Amino acid sequence: MAVVDPVTDPAVTTSPVESYNEWDPLEEVIVGTLGGCAVPACETAVAAVVPHRQKDFFERNAGGAFPAEYTARAAAELEDFAALLTSLGVRVVRPDALDQRRPFATPDWSSPGGLYSAMPRDVLLIVGDTVIESPMAWRSRYFEAHAYRRLLMDYFRRGAKWISAPRPRLLDSLYDEDFDDERPYRSGRYATTEAEPTFDAADFVRCGRDLFAQRSHVTNLAGIEWVRRHLGDSYRVHLVEVADHAPMHIDATFMPLAPGKLLLNPERVKTVPSCFDSWDIRFAPQPALPEDHVLYMSSAWVSMNVFMVDERRVVVEAGEAPLIDFLQDWGFDVLPVSFRNVIRFGGCFHCVTADVRRRGELRSYF
Ligand code: GLY
Repeated sequence: MAVVDPVTDPAVTTSPVESYNEWDPLEEVIVGTLGGCAVPACETAVAAVVPHRQKDFFERNAGGAFPAEYTARAAAELEDFAALLTSLGVRVVRPDALDQRRPFATPDWSSPGGLYSAMPRDVLLIVGDTVIESPMAWRSRYFEAHAYRRLLMDYFRRGAKWISAPRPRLLDSLYDEDFDDERPYRSGRYATTEAEPTFDAADFVRCGRDLFAQRSHVTNLAGIEWVRRHLGDSYRVHLVEVADHAPMHIDATFMPLAPGKLLLNPERVKTVPSCFDSWDIRFAPQPALPEDHVLYMSSAWVSMNVFMVDERRVVVEAGEAPLIDFLQDWGFDVLPVSFRNVIRFGGCFHCVTADVRRRGELRSYF
C-alpha cells in the first residue's frame, strides 16, 4: 500500500490548524508548560512591565529558577486545566519543556537564559490555517518558539501553513532605556523603538476578518504593520488605543468573548473602535486577587484573561467571584478553575493557550 506523504502529496489540502476567532467551538489547543522555566534577565523591555516591587528579584535571579514551591503548584494547576479541556472533548497538546536555564548568544548580544514555554499565546499567532511565530522583543524569548517546533512540524506535515516573522536582531537600538513608565501611550516612549518589527502574538485578538492589536512595550507599530501586510486583503488589522502604564498583551484589556460581546478593562480602554457600535460592551469588575499575592510579570488584571471553550462556556479563575457573577449575569456558563499560582508567571487561561482548531469559518462580525 502506498504511503501518503503530506509534505509532498498535493492531495493533502486540509489543515489541522484552523482558528479564526476567540470563541468558535474548541477542538484542539496547545496548553503551555512551566517545565524548565527560568527567570528572565531584567533587560529594558522586561523592566518596563514587571511590577516595580519585583525588579530586585529579577536582577538577583536572572537565568536562575523561580521558587520551586510556586512552579510546582502552578504546574499542578496547568495539569488540572488541561484535564478539564480534555474532559470536554478537546484535544490538548503540550510544547516541549526545554531547559531554559542555559546561557545563549547571538553575534550581537548574550542572555543568561531563556524564559519558559508556558505562554503559547505570546509566541504563536494563529490566523485561519496559518501559524505565525512572533518576533519577540525580549532577548530571553529569542528561541522560545523552539519548544513548539515538534508540534509545528506535525501540523505542517498534515497541511498547516507555517511561517516565522522576520527574525529581529534585538540590537540596543531597538530599546529605549528612557521609556515612559507612567503614560507611554501619551509620550510615545515605549521600551521598544521602531528599529525593526517586533510583536508578541498576545498583543492581537481575532474576530474573524478583523484583528485588534495594541502598541505595547514589546509590540511596535512596525510589528503590527508586518502582520497587516502579511495577512493581506482578507483581513483588517485595527489599532486599539490603550491607556496602560505597562502595556504588554491586549488580552487583559480588550477581550471579544463572543459575537456581539466585548469585555473591557475599565481602567485602560478609552475609545473603542466604531465597528463595535452595535456590540454589547461591558467593563470587567475589579480583580479579586489579594494585594499581597506575588505576581512576577503582570498586574492583577489578568483576571480578565479568560478562555472561551465556545461562545457560551468560559473558563475563569476560581477566586474571581465578582467576575464569575458578572459573566453569569451576561449569559455565559462559567467553568471556574484555580489558577492563582499560574498567574504569578504572567498570564491566565488565554495566555497559556493557543487555540489550534476551532470549528467555524472565516467571516466578518461587523
Ligand atoms: N499584561 C497584562 C497585565 O499585566 O495586566
